[in-house]
Amino acid sequence: MWPCTMKVEKSIINKIAYVLLALLITSFSAPQALSLPQLSQFPYIQRPTTSSVVIVWETYDPALCSIEYGMNSVLDQRTQLAGSGKRHVAALNGLRPNATYSYRILAEDIPLMDAATFRTNRDESHPEFSFVVFGDSGTGDHNQARVAAQIHRVEADFGLITGDVVYPRGASEDYESKYFLPYRDIISSICFYPTMGNHDYYTDNGKPYLDTFVLPANNPAKSEKYYSFDYGNAHIVSIDSVLPTNGPEEKEQFEWVRQDLASSRKLWKFAFLHHPPYSTSLHGSEMRIRRRYSPLFEEYDVDIVFCGHDHNYQRTVKIKEFFPEKEGVVYIVTGGGGGHLYDIGRSARIAFAKKIFHFVHVKINKESLELSAIDDRGNEFDSLSLDKSSSKAVWIRWGAVVFLIVFAGAIILKTGLMRSRKATNSSTDTCDIG
Ligand SMILES: [Fe+2]
Repeated sequence: MWPCTMKVEKSIINKIAYVLLALLITSFSAPQALSLPQLSQFPYIQRPTTSSVVIVWETYDPALCSIEYGMNSVLDQRTQLAGSGKRHVAALNGLRPNATYSYRILAEDIPLMDAATFRTNRDESHPEFSFVVFGDSGTGDHNQARVAAQIHRVEADFGLITGDVVYPRGASEDYESKYFLPYRDIISSICFYPTMGNHDYYTDNGKPYLDTFVLPANNPAKSEKYYSFDYGNAHIVSIDSVLPTNGPEEKEQFEWVRQDLASSRKLWKFAFLHHPPYSTSLHGSEMRIRRRYSPLFEEYDVDIVFCGHDHNYQRTVKIKEFFPEKEGVVYIVTGGGGGHLYDIGRSARIAFAKKIFHFVHVKINKESLELSAIDDRGNEFDSLSLDKSSSKAVWIRWGAVVFLIVFAGAIILKTGLMRSRKATNSSTDTCDIG
C-alpha cells in the first residue's frame, strides 16, 4: 500500500506545482498585457494650415506618445510628445503646402494604429478645392450614420459643421458615440470646423465642445467660439450665434467679424453660424442675427452664409436687403445631418427647399463655384453655380473703356495745346516782323 499512496501523493504534488507555476506565469504576464497602451479616441485633424497641422488623440491610460509622419507614405520624421497623459495634442510644423502626409501614433514606441493620411492646405497657387457642410447632426443614430457615409464618399479638403454637434446637451460622454464614431474615418484625414449650436452650450456653457476642438481663435479675446481661416482663394468665418446679442462677448465678436470681413482680399468669402437669418421653418428667421450680421455679409461681399438650427435644406435667392447696390448673399440652411426633420413653409426668398437628411458639397475652381446638396443615399437634389469670371470680365471691360476715354481725352487736350501754342508763336512772329 505504501508505494501506491506515495504515487498518489506525488501526482497531487505535481499538479499543485503546475498550478502554482501557471499562477506565477500569469501573475507576471497579466499586468504587462493590461498595460499595453491603446487608443481610446482615434486621432483627428485640427487647425491645418499650408505648413502645419494639429493632431489630437487619447489613450485609455497615461502614456508617453510620439507621432511618425512623412510624405510619399514614408514615415521618416518623428515628434516625441513631452510628458505622459491620456489626451495628446501634437503640432507638426515645417510642412510643405498642398502635400499629402502619412502618419501614425505610437505609445512607448508601440504603433497604436495603421498609417493614416492628411493633407496640408492648398495655397493661392492651387485654387481648386472642395469642402462639405452639414449641421444638427449629433444623434448617434442611423440617420447620422447614413449622411456620414455619403460625406465619406466625396473627396473634400475640409468640413464645416453648422452647430448642434452633439445632442441633447453637448455632454462630453456623448462625444464618442455621436461625433467621433460616426466621423472617425473622415476626421482622421481632414479637419471639421464647427460653430457653436444652442445644444452645444447646454453642458457647462459649452466646455466639452471647447475642450474637444482645437480652433484658430484668431481674435483679440483668443476665443475659440468665433474665428476665421483661409483656404486657397477663400476666406471662411465662423460666428457664434448663440451669444446674447449686444452682450460684452458678442460685442467683441461683432467688431472682430466686421474687421475680419473688411480686411480679407480673398476672392470667395463664406460665413457659417447656427441660427439662420432667413428661414421658413420651425424656428424661422433669427431677426436679431439678421439685423446685426446680414448688413456685414452684404457690405463685405460674403458669397454664401451656411446655417443650421432648422432641420432641413433651404437655399435663398441672392438677398440684398441692406445694400441694394451690392451683389447679394445666398443663405443656405443645412440642418439635415441627423436630427429629426422639420416641415418647411413658403417664402418668396426661398429658391429651393426640401425636408431631407443631407449634406452640402462645395467645389471651387478659381473663379467658379459648384454647390451640390446630396441626400443620405448619395443623390444630388439641388445645385447652385456661381461664377466670378463674368463679373471680373465686366470690370475689365469697363476699365478698358475708361482707359480709352482718358487716353483719347489726353491726346485731344495735347493736340489742342500744341495748336494753341503754334497759333501764339505765329502771332508773336507777326508782331516781331511788324
Ligand atoms: Fe439648434
